[in-house]
Amino acid sequence: MKYSSSTTAVPDAPKVPRHVAVIMDGNGRWATKRFLPRVAGHVKGVEAVRTVVEACARRGVEYLTVFAFSSENWRRPEEEVSLLMRLFVTALEREVAKLHANNIRLKVVGDLSRADAKLQGMIAAAERKTAANTRMTVTVCFNYGGRWDIMQAINKMVAAHPGATDFSEEQLAPHLAMAYAPEPDLFIRTGGEERISNFLLWQLAYTELFFTDTYWPDFSIESLDAAIASYQHRERRFGRTGDQLAEKTN
Ligand code: IPE
Ligand code: IPE
Ligand code: MG
Repeated sequence: MKYSSSTTAVPDAPKVPRHVAVIMDGNGRWATKRFLPRVAGHVKGVEAVRTVVEACARRGVEYLTVFAFSSENWRRPEEEVSLLMRLFVTALEREVAKLHANNIRLKVVGDLSRADAKLQGMIAAAERKTAANTRMTVTVCFNYGGRWDIMQAINKMVAAHPGATDFSEEQLAPHLAMAYAPEPDLFIRTGGEERISNFLLWQLAYTELFFTDTYWPDFSIESLDAAIASYQHRERRFGRTGDQLAEKTN
């Protein structure tokens, strides 16, 4: 993809968001509210991912990015961390064939060096299998952190230009983990918290933010449509005035 940046040029503001990025939060509270162990919420959360992948593909979203495990989630109890890892393996085992059959490309971004060998192998195989699919790209952010992403990109950029100083945005951008995707148009966070939690720090510069109290396992097609409807009512000015935008559309 040709590099496009919301800060160096005014991008398109597509009616259907081209790229939707989601912080899937509230699994634990969903379960606790039902007197279930937190893991029950994570299991149910995988079903919500399936629903949203399907609905996004039908609506013509080109990129769907979901935050599955953050670089800070290692701070959780060991038991929950290992359950989340196992759940990821199971989800890959169960879902990759279906994604492939639906012409969906799967990418996993983050510091994968902390995943065990089996998981790393499965991720590589899933990416390879779906690499040529064109309907939609689903990116799972795993052991991902926005600061990790910026730092790894800086390190690669510096290594690619030995001795150079004074770098530009255009030189950094190709090294970011999601360089293959346009910046997100719509960000959704479920679960009631209104924060970014070290998700896509660089890429969210001009993204429309949508927060909902709905816990992720309850997030439905209707919830997705409400988020998209909210997005469609925003005026994406990218630094310009509202009058300038009105002139352009008249
Ligand atoms: C999000 O749900 C899933 C992950 C972070 C893996 P949580 O597990 O954070 O659920 P809450 O926020 O405790 O309800
Ligand atoms: C963010 O959720 C990470 C994921 C959804 C994977 P958290 O629940 O971990 O975020 P904080 O810690 O409450 O900000
Ligand atoms: Mg949470």
